[in-house]
Parts: sequence; structure tokens; C-alpha cells
Amino acid sequence: MASVLAATGEEGLSLLEHQAFDLVLLDIRMPDLDGVTVLRHIRSRHPATPVIMITGYPTIDTAVECTKLGAEDYLVKPFRLSDLEASLSKLEGPQEPDADSRPAAERGLRIDDSRDRIIGESPEMQSLFEKILKVAPTDSTVLITGESGTGKELVARAIYAHSLRKDREFVAVDCSSLVETLLESELFGHVKGSFTGALETKHGLFELANQGTFFFDEISNLSLKIQAKLLRVIQEREFMKVGDQKKVRLDIRILSASNRDLSECISAGTFREDLFYRLSVVPVHLPPLRSRKDDVPLLVNHFVNKFSHRIRREIPQVSEAAMEILKEYAWPGNVRELEHTIERVLILEDTDLIRPRHLPSFISQRQGDFQMFSEEPFSLEELEKQYIRFVLLKTGGQKTRAAEILGINRKTLGLKIKKYGLG
Ligand SMILES: Nc1ncnc2c1ncn2[C@@H]1O[C@H](COP(=O)(O)OP(=O)(O)OP(=O)(O)O)[C@@H](O)[C@H]1O
Ligand SMILES: [Mg+2]
Repeated sequence: MASVLAATGEEGLSLLEHQAFDLVLLDIRMPDLDGVTVLRHIRSRHPATPVIMITGYPTIDTAVECTKLGAEDYLVKPFRLSDLEASLSKLEGPQEPDADSRPAAERGLRIDDSRDRIIGESPEMQSLFEKILKVAPTDSTVLITGESGTGKELVARAIYAHSLRKDREFVAVDCSSLVETLLESELFGHVKGSFTGALETKHGLFELANQGTFFFDEISNLSLKIQAKLLRVIQEREFMKVGDQKKVRLDIRILSASNRDLSECISAGTFREDLFYRLSVVPVHLPPLRSRKDDVPLLVNHFVNKFSHRIRREIPQVSEAAMEILKEYAWPGNVRELEHTIERVLILEDTDLIRPRHLPSFISQRQGDFQMFSEEPFSLEELEKQYIRFVLLKTGGQKTRAAEILGINRKTLGLKIKKYGLG
């Protein structure tokens, strides 16, 4: 595992923007940003990256604050290597015996050597995993599409992790975050004096991470000018620094992602059709969470385990009624919204059984829209099933109360729950 040293907080954050790290060791007193501020940034921008704080000036307040913010550990300088090792082994945590007794592909696709996986056992996700494993070892370009929060970046990382370039760099470039000139010099580099402000020659990412994998995120935001340059780079497999005459050979794998429909961008004239074809030799589409509801319980349990471990609390159970609500909610923000919801519940609710009342109200309230008349007519039996489900949700799964409302006895309700598979 390679390690990279950042001299300041700013520098560390900028490294994290371009590359995935397995671990961040973060000092608290630093020349520019203090460690706690940096930690806050890392938690919001890179929630999956573990952080261990180190400090020569320990105080209880900062230790508590860092733990609350989600630091994995807090080491006081000077420390021995064995202290760091101990802290690292805690990080790996207990293995999930349940998860590992089943074939990995059944529950999710491993992303790398860590415990991170793309979770899913719905048929859509199973065929996605197959596709990822097939395309990963090739050098083909892959265009990953899907709504926000469906896991596009995760898929890009999985492709990289299963590729032959896995020991080279993975560089994620967010095409929406930089203005055009900066992005250009960031990618290509520039020679001293090539434009006002180019005081020194700068090596671009293409040069630094040659032979690696480039992930162009939010690719629809690339300006037409850079699209033209990128197309040329892909076709000719060489590039030049801004203001330079010398060509450098380039050997990179290109993955890209977009949550906008690129064919619309092509029609609107903001995206080049020829570049589109180059980038999407293998297209991968991620379905929205609402169209694969059967994955919800698996994801919920995954995040409950993950955050319980992170904030060091007992792993709570999720009641059937709560799970049902989570399954029925439309998740406009997809897996990311689900992940944040679980994180929030675990932080705010000190309970060993998560019930409907512990869920954010906007999620449970949606259950109020019981629709008697959908567009498709259906049988009385289906209506009965839907109505019983609705009443169970409303009563938070309390069968006696639900039976009362339905005007049947508890035993009959029990039979119907069994018959309709609502239990
Ligand atoms: N199938 C999954 N299994 C486990 N975690 C997932 C899955 N899908 C998404 N996530 C998690 O959800 C969050 C959002 O995923 P990701 O950043 O890959 O989405 P995205 O499609 O790139 O979204 P955006 O378009 O907003 O950038 C991440 O924290 C990711 O780890
Ligand atoms: Mg993304």
C-alpha cells in the first residue's frame, strides 16, 4: 500500500479529491486548517474513508469531538508502531460471519480488499455484478449512468479494483468542480509562462497517473473545448502540456459517469456525439432504488452494521414494520439517501429495536397515501392485502390494534398476514 504525505490540511483535502485512500492519519495542529475542520470535510465528502487522529496536545474535548465526527481512533504522540497496529486492527473490525458464509456475489460485489461491497441481490444488481466482472479486466471505456446516489462511483471503483491496473493510480476527476482553465491545466499540466499566472511548470494528472485509471465524474459538465482535447487524447493516445510542443505517450483506462442523459446533451449540442461513442464502449446503467425494493432490507442491515461499528454502539435490530416502511418509501436520493437516513437514526435514537417512530417523519408519513384506486384494477384479495399492509404500517406493526381497526380478531389477522406474506 502506498502512502502519501500531505504537509497541510488543504493539501490533504486536495489529494483526497483525486484519489481514494484506505486510511487517513490526521494531525490536529497544522499550519492552515486544523485537523478537526479537515475531519469534518472528509466525513462529508468521503464518508467511507476511515480517519485516525493523531495529536501531541490531547484534550478530552477534542477527543470527544473527533469521535462524534466519526474518527476511528485518537492516538497521542509519541506513539509506538504497535499502537497504530492495534488501532488498525480495530478498524478492520469483527468479520461478519453471516455475510461471509454465503458466496460473495450473492449478497454483493467486493470492491477491494476492505469490507466494502456493492450490496444487492436483486436480479438487476446480479447482472450488473456480472457485467462489472466481465468488463473490469479489459481496457474498454465504460460509461456509468444512473440517478444521483445509485452507486455510480462505487461501480467505477469496483471496475478499477477488479482490473489489471489495480496496482496503479485511480484518479477521480469531478468535471463539475473546476473552471475550464483550471481543469485543463489540472489534467494536462502546463509549462511555465504559458498563461498569466503559470509561474512554474506543472505536471498534470495525465502525466502523474499515466498507466492508471481515470474516472471522469459528471462528464456532461465537461466544456466543449475540453471535450475536443479529450477526444484527441483518446484517439491519438498522446497529449501535450498546455503551452508545450512535446508530445507525451498516454496509456490510461477511462471510466466516466453521468446522472444526466447524454443523448439529451448531444441533441442540445452540449456534448459531442463522437466523444460519447468513445466513452461508452460498454454502457452500465444503475437502476434507481425504487425499482429494486428487494435490495432495501439488505442495504438497511448493511448500513446499520457499518454505522454501529463506526460509532461503536450495539447493533440494533430493525422491526418488521420499520423495514416495511423503508422498503415502500420511494428514495428519490437512492442509496445515498438511505445511507444517510440510517446514519441519522443510529446517531439520534438510542434503541436496540428500530421502530417506525424512530424513522424521520417524512419517510413514515408517505405511508399515509393508501391508494384505493390505482390505475390498474385489481382483485378484492389484492385490495385486502394492501389494506392490511397499510393498517399494519399505521399501527407500527401492533397486531392487536390493527385487528381492532380492521374489525377482525387477532387470530384471523395472523392467518391473513401469513397468507399474504406480510409477516
Ligand atoms: N449497492 C450499494 N451498496 C452499498 N453502498 C452503496 C450502494 N450504492 C450506493 N452506495 C453508497 O451510497 C453512496 C452514494 O453512492 P455513489 O457516490 O457511488 O453514487 P453516485 O451514483 O456517484 O451519486 P451522484 O450522481 O450523486 O454522484 C455512497 O456512500 C455509496 O457507498
Ligand atoms: Mg458520484
